[in-house]
Amino acid sequence: MGETGEYKTIRVKPLSPMIGAEIEGVDLSKPLGNAEFDDIHAAFLKHHVIFFRDQTLTPDQHKAFGRRFGTLNIHPYVKGMADHPEVLEIIKEPSDRINFGGGWHSDMSFLEEPALGSMLYAMEVPEVGGDTLFASQYAAWDALSEGLKATLGQLTAIHSAAEEYGARGHSSAKRASMDSEVVGDDVPEYEHPVVRTHPETGRKGLYINPAFTLRFKGWSRKESKPLLDYLFDVSRREAFTCRFRWTPGALAFWDNRCVWHYALNDYHGQRRHMRRVTINGGKVS
Ligand code: SIN
Repeated sequence: MGETGEYKTIRVKPLSPMIGAEIEGVDLSKPLGNAEFDDIHAAFLKHHVIFFRDQTLTPDQHKAFGRRFGTLNIHPYVKGMADHPEVLEIIKEPSDRINFGGGWHSDMSFLEEPALGSMLYAMEVPEVGGDTLFASQYAAWDALSEGLKATLGQLTAIHSAAEEYGARGHSSAKRASMDSEVVGDDVPEYEHPVVRTHPETGRKGLYINPAFTLRFKGWSRKESKPLLDYLFDVSRREAFTCRFRWTPGALAFWDNRCVWHYALNDYHGQRRHMRRVTINGGKVS
């Protein structure tokens, strides 16, 4: 399957009808020309997560690709590389049992201005296992009834990193071989609309996630839970997902404004080493 004619500089092979495409014909270690950038940008907006294989990237080259799309984030709770604080090393050693990102989420929704996108680059991957799943939150929104959409359109959700990085949280980063900070109880909460309009495509998508969404504004956690659980079930419906099998040198670039992702933890005893650059986004509306 291809998309001939739509792009001047790359080949784009969709991975599933709803989400995901592999991109061929580009070397990300080199500065991108405007035509290449425009094609990659168009494929990113159309497929929501795009994949490149067989890349060789230094942290500087990885950051340079990220900076074509915006400023880079420095994670508030997980330390980046010593000389490159914008680059997170996501590592699971053979002796680790818990991985980083092992649950459905959208990166950094716990910030006032959550991430636009993330670029994950594979340094070392298990022979088998350690795939990443992605789910389209446009598709989740489109699947809802008009009645529920009208109700959700009025709602705001409270997001926080407390469950992941707070003192009483269960941060996977804390237990994996990664340098993360255990913050106290005073983890900030931010409000985002439950349905967001993508600032570039104008499409609507659900914007809640199991890792960082605590409750609806003005509702208790107990009151929020049944509706959140229902929506989470819709958000991860199999037909709205794709799955990427990593190879060394592969890079995934996903749009956190309309995509959830999930790092599978099915490779105990093997090493997985990734590097992530995260691009800042703006306020959610
Ligand atoms: C993440 O949540 O950014 C990690 C994803 C992965 O390691 O596959």
